Amino acid sequence: MKLNTILVLDFGGQYCHLIARRIRELSVYSEVVDNNITAKEIDRLNQRFDIKGLILSGGPTSVYDRGAPRLNRGIVGLSLPILGICYGHQLLALLLGGKVERAERREYGISQAMIDRPVGVLRDLGPKETVWMSHGDHVAAISDSCELLAHTENSPYAAFRHRSNLICGLQWHPEVAQTENGMQMLRNFVFEVCGCEANWRTEDFVERVISEIRQAIGEKKAIIGVSGGIDSSVTAVLAAKAIKGNVTGVLVDHGFMREGEVESVRKTLEDLGVNLTVVRASKYFFSRLDGVVDPEMKRKIVGREFIRAFERAARGVRADYLLQGTIYPDRIESGIRKHSDKIKTHHNVAGLPTKMRFLRIVEPIRDLYKDEVRKVAGSLGMPRDMVWRQPFPGPGLAVRVVGKITREKIHIVRMADKIVTEEIEREGLGHDVWQYFAVLTDTRSTGVKGDSRAYGYTVAIRAVESREAMTATFARIPYHILERISTRITNEIPEVVRVVYDITHKPPATIEWE
Ligand code: XMP
Repeated sequence: MKLNTILVLDFGGQYCHLIARRIRELSVYSEVVDNNITAKEIDRLNQRFDIKGLILSGGPTSVYDRGAPRLNRGIVGLSLPILGICYGHQLLALLLGGKVERAERREYGISQAMIDRPVGVLRDLGPKETVWMSHGDHVAAISDSCELLAHTENSPYAAFRHRSNLICGLQWHPEVAQTENGMQMLRNFVFEVCGCEANWRTEDFVERVISEIRQAIGEKKAIIGVSGGIDSSVTAVLAAKAIKGNVTGVLVDHGFMREGEVESVRKTLEDLGVNLTVVRASKYFFSRLDGVVDPEMKRKIVGREFIRAFERAARGVRADYLLQGTIYPDRIESGIRKHSDKIKTHHNVAGLPTKMRFLRIVEPIRDLYKDEVRKVAGSLGMPRDMVWRQPFPGPGLAVRVVGKITREKIHIVRMADKIVTEEIEREGLGHDVWQYFAVLTDTRSTGVKGDSRAYGYTVAIRAVESREAMTATFARIPYHILERISTRITNEIPEVVRVVYDITHKPPATIEWE
């Protein structure tokens, strides 16, 4: 059975992938494709998918800019329903004979939309809707073939539809959470306008990806770096299902893993059928990091050393293909998309360029968000511990020791981390809090232990709530839990005299300290 599918045409907007992801939340399959896709290519895709509609994303340009991306002509002729969002909305208005102008005032943030006709994509909505906008141009006129559906104070044609075919446009972003009834709008488009059936299940993704991996790698060999993190583990398990013993997982023990982690990851992955090699390389990592303070430098050194260890292990396997567990947010935060700035060098265990020559790098879960990966992991029968394992940075505890790294400091932060984890999980908060961990700061302070003065380390506790790690808020952990954590850390780790709680959101802070 072919999946009902909505294609999202990427015009460069920062929420483009979020649109596809929201559609998938409605159990309808959705993929992002390039904006210059042709009608022929869509026809070809129709052999694999049952394409029911198109969404044109927002974008950073003005429709009048030189070289501004356009929609290939033949696409309207396909008679598929089309929803334009922001830039896509303006593009459709123009294509249908309307006018787009630079708005007197840029509209950015929350606006109130007056719904003039609650039909089609706006069915069942109230007379006034809270929507989220970000635009400089606006639609100043629509052709007679179209009808107005909604306006805002600064956008006279904030929503419209064509009278006879199924084309419509929204100036605002229904995909972002700030548009209160955005999901209803997308639901209307997907089910009412396009007539989709909700027939996408996580298992379909699994089957599709397994066959993609098989097709890409064939009878050849592949390797994948695994960390025990959910992304690389899911990728490894999918690959093991696809090509069995022809994929080898390489687990590099850099010495910065948490307590008991290497052994438990090894066991879990082997139980899931992954053929695994563990490389013990901590002495190399410690010696290369000796005296290094700068966080970006640490990340680079760990990344480089990781590649060396990885290559040493991989050479023996003679793999032609490299699998990576890159997911969508890694790609944005590492600045892969044209219009986003680099925040920090993410060392995604499996996401490293290496000097080894591979025929190809395969990234089977590149379009998924973290919670989608968790769903896939669940459907693969991965244990709960792994499915709900907190995200953990590739460089591990090395970026949770501020300043110079020593074996002693790594030991301290590892013990502190174990206490934080035990206490939060004991209270059953593990699932509500996105991440919780300890950071060893480079501040020492005075304390009293027993009857004498002590001068020791300060540990910071970080616990955040988040959905996709792009933004986060500090978690309101009850005081009695923080108190127990603090007491245990200072009692059980003699070198620590002070424990502080980090109450910063992301932004402006990041989740990790380094
Ligand atoms: P930040 O600190 O940038 O982290 O707010 C966002 C999320 O990414 C995790 N993180 C990493 N994950 N390799 C990874 O695979 C890394 O180098 C890395 N650095 C940070 C972090 O724990 C949080 O969940």
